[in-house]
Amino acid sequence: MTDGHAYRAQLTLRRLLPEKVKMLGRLARLAFQPPPPPAPAIAQAQLEGCVLLTDRLEMLRRLPKGGRVCELGTYRGDFARMILEAVQPDELHLVDVSFALCGQDVLDHPAVRLHQTTTTAFLGASAVADFDWIYVDADHGYEAVVADIACAKRRVKPSGLLVFNDFARIVRPGFGVFGVHQAVCEFAAAEGWAVAYLSMGGEALYDIALRRPVG
Ligand SMILES: C[S@@+](CC[C@H](N)C(=O)[O-])C[C@H]1O[C@@H](n2cnc3c(N)ncnc32)[C@H](O)[C@@H]1O
Repeated sequence: MTDGHAYRAQLTLRRLLPEKVKMLGRLARLAFQPPPPPAPAIAQAQLEGCVLLTDRLEMLRRLPKGGRVCELGTYRGDFARMILEAVQPDELHLVDVSFALCGQDVLDHPAVRLHQTTTTAFLGASAVADFDWIYVDADHGYEAVVADIACAKRRVKPSGLLVFNDFARIVRPGFGVFGVHQAVCEFAAAEGWAVAYLSMGGEALYDIALRRPVG
């Protein structure tokens, strides 16, 4: 569902439509789609080692330098630039349906590898656990995040991290519909990955990092 032609066309349309038109679409969707049930709790044992951070840049400062990193959803390249500066990865794989708006400095960086495709098409092309960490920040709809998790969890090395931007539950008109919180809580509750970091943000759109268990 998240790498077919219809989905790609939908993503392109979303990039082109003015914000007011998108808001009308969200209102229409909400009229027919009731809010999801509350997300399952993440067990306390999974939260004991979690470090609370002031923002996502502080999280980057604490991640190991170098390595093989992937960002799903790059847009203008603002966070990719922060990764390049703070983490200095050996390879930074950027995945987006379009890099038209991405900064040229990011596109030209020697560590950057570009993948102009959908997140699930890129991640699903291999089952090898070859990334030290993956930053998930593409389509924030519930089904899309569930699909990203299903592919990304296999591509992270044992003890590597799956990091999610906009760990939020937003079902109010005008703010988009964010299913990230629901999808991440369901995944964490089902598979028991420990929460390593929770980083704050001025708009209360937090980042959460889950660590893949070893073995
Ligand atoms: C929120 S922006 C990314 C922002 C960026 N991570 C940052 O923090 O600077 C989301 C991006 O994901 C891309 N995107 C959305 N759904 C996608 C999908 N299924 N596959 C690939 N890219 C997708 C959009 O084109 C957009 O550029």
